[in-house]
Amino acid sequence: MSVKNITVFGAGLMGAGIAQVAAQNGFKVVLSDVTEKALQNGLQIIQKSLARVAKKRFAAVSGQEGDGEGAGWTREVLGNIKTGTDAGQAVSSSDLVVEAIVENLEIKRNLFGFLDRKADPRCIFASNTSSLSIGDIAGTCSAERLTRFGGFHFFNPVPAMKLVEVIKAQHTSQETFDTLVAVAKKMEKVPVSAKDTPGFITGRLLIPYMLEAIRMAERGDASPQDIDTAMELGAGYPMGPFKLLDLVGLDTTTFISNGWREKAERGEIPKELVAKIPMLQKLVDEGKLGRKTGQGFYNVSRYDGPQYRS
Ligand SMILES: NC(=O)c1ccc[n+]([C@@H]2O[C@H](COP(=O)([O-])OP(=O)(O)OC[C@H]3O[C@@H](n4cnc5c(N)ncnc54)[C@H](O)[C@@H]3O)[C@@H](O)[C@H]2O)c1
Repeated sequence: MSVKNITVFGAGLMGAGIAQVAAQNGFKVVLSDVTEKALQNGLQIIQKSLARVAKKRFAAVSGQEGDGEGAGWTREVLGNIKTGTDAGQAVSSSDLVVEAIVENLEIKRNLFGFLDRKADPRCIFASNTSSLSIGDIAGTCSAERLTRFGGFHFFNPVPAMKLVEVIKAQHTSQETFDTLVAVAKKMEKVPVSAKDTPGFITGRLLIPYMLEAIRMAERGDASPQDIDTAMELGAGYPMGPFKLLDLVGLDTTTFISNGWREKAERGEIPKELVAKIPMLQKLVDEGKLGRKTGQGFYNVSRYDGPQYRS
């Protein structure tokens, strides 16, 4: 099926990025959120990001409205994006819905249950969830829609990160999967195929790796800085596990591992991978969540010269 019109739900960090790369690559986009304020926030994210992209693409651009190729390109991209708070109306002519709202199973299920009754039966539904099961999110939709429901997992920041994990859930049809792959490619991304298992590919490897790094520091085997340095200089990772933890947010990591603990109870992943870690819990309890609060494993306000605070 050919996709022309995409509706993105959630005008936050991820939704704004997805709307932007879709609009940049010729899709007509409707960006939807619950409040006008959230939509304005999303548009601001997009405008700032487009200014950076335009500067790179059109070296001569002055950045002034009305000047140069860059400004024209930016206007054209923004012209592909409409916004609206009415969810039903937002999907009235949609070929593909990409959901990037808060990471809460019930809220996502409610939204999709509602959209299932509003959108064209041929419209494909996709979720950008990082940690929830696509099958669980899709559970409020009709059997027919389940064949047109998949995962479409982008990475932050969306305009810069090339990867998209395309998730084939239990009922996702091959046609739906192929369509999502084609859309990802048209967005100039590199799609990979993954099953609907906890964390898909990247999360399944990264979350246990980051948790194990914290356990290593907690045991006193090595300091967070030395673990980061080891993985950066020895394994060639662009960022060690503690810098990554501070970037992702210690609350987010805790939320994901708590959710996985339930999956471990059901035997979907080994229990030891997500066993509770007092060191992580202490930082979260103290409100030290990483970059977003200025402190996590590092004193993030001095990120260039990381200092571990125990
Ligand atoms: N932040 C990341 O690094 C990252 C990476 C990959 C995937 N994700 C996933 O993307 C999703 C969004 O994450 P984010 O970081 O952009 O969150 P965010 O908090 O920046 O934005 C979420 C937006 O969703 C809106 N929203 C909430 N309920 C809504 C509803 N019912 N209808 C429409 N909009 C609604 C909020 O108003 C907000 O603007 C989550 O599922 C998250 O797991 C996040």
